[in-house]
Amino acid sequence: MGRMDGKVAVVTGAASGIGAATTDRFREEGAIVIGWDLDGAEVDLDVRDEDAVRGAFADVVAAHGRLDAVVHAAGVAGGGPAHLVPVEEWDRVISINLTGTFVVGKHAVAVMLGQDVVDGERGSIVNIASVEGLAGTEGGSSYNAAKGGVVILTKNMAIDFGRSAIRVNAVCPGFIDTPMLRGVFEMEGMGPIQDDIAAAHQLGRLGRPEEIAASCLFLCSSDASFVTGVSLPVDGGYTAGHRHGVSELMGLA
Ligand SMILES: NC(=O)c1ccc[n+]([C@@H]2O[C@H](COP(=O)([O-])OP(=O)(O)OC[C@H]3O[C@@H](n4cnc5c(N)ncnc54)[C@H](O)[C@@H]3O)[C@@H](O)[C@H]2O)c1
Repeated sequence: MGRMDGKVAVVTGAASGIGAATTDRFREEGAIVIGWDLDGAEVDLDVRDEDAVRGAFADVVAAHGRLDAVVHAAGVAGGGPAHLVPVEEWDRVISINLTGTFVVGKHAVAVMLGQDVVDGERGSIVNIASVEGLAGTEGGSSYNAAKGGVVILTKNMAIDFGRSAIRVNAVCPGFIDTPMLRGVFEMEGMGPIQDDIAAAHQLGRLGRPEEIAASCLFLCSSDASFVTGVSLPVDGGYTAGHRHGVSELMGLA
């Protein structure tokens, strides 16, 4: 028996990285998953396109009768020090990463509000935010602002829709080995910084997309029936604190 048997889920950003891993894991656990992405998934759409998102949710309900879970993983890297970021680039990152989250959440909730409570809830939404939405990082600017917005939007939606039996949570991944991160690491000068980024995780490594998929599974499953409004770091200890060499003095690794 799977932990998502018979559940109907939409995963955005399903063609790559975290979204693809989440799609695979949910299917292994018995869910019907409809993947959305710009291309390469079941449904081609841009998460900023409100008419397309509204229509695609209507198609899910027409085909499967219900929408139990949404994992919103579509997103892009971006940022730069504020004095070097053109407004157009700022708008692009904010619109995909934050406005896209709003558009998907808005229309997911609209569907869920209209359906019956099953197994104690109408539905569950998980937004993929980031550790970069919990604290600043060098050169983050638009990306951090967008992810910080996702964290607060998630809390607000949890408040607004909790009494309607809809749970809304976020996962805040550390740095995860996906095509997005590989693209960032391939940028000029980033080579030596890779090891430093991996070392900033207390487990001493980057994360794997499957490890984020597992947390999405938990948050969408009945195991998390009393969990809403959280922004769960799944980050190998990235947000736990800092090391300054004292562990080596104490004979630790
Ligand atoms: N990889 C990391 O280190 C990391 C860390 C923290 C958070 N995240 C977040 O996790 C999510 C998934 O990232 P990933 O690392 O798997 O990246 P990825 O690039 O491998 O996958 C992202 C997917 O989103 C899709 N996408 C981008 N813009 C879209 C749009 N406007 N409409 C529809 N789809 C769109 C892309 O086509 C791509 O398939 C993103 O929100 C990202 O910000 C990633």
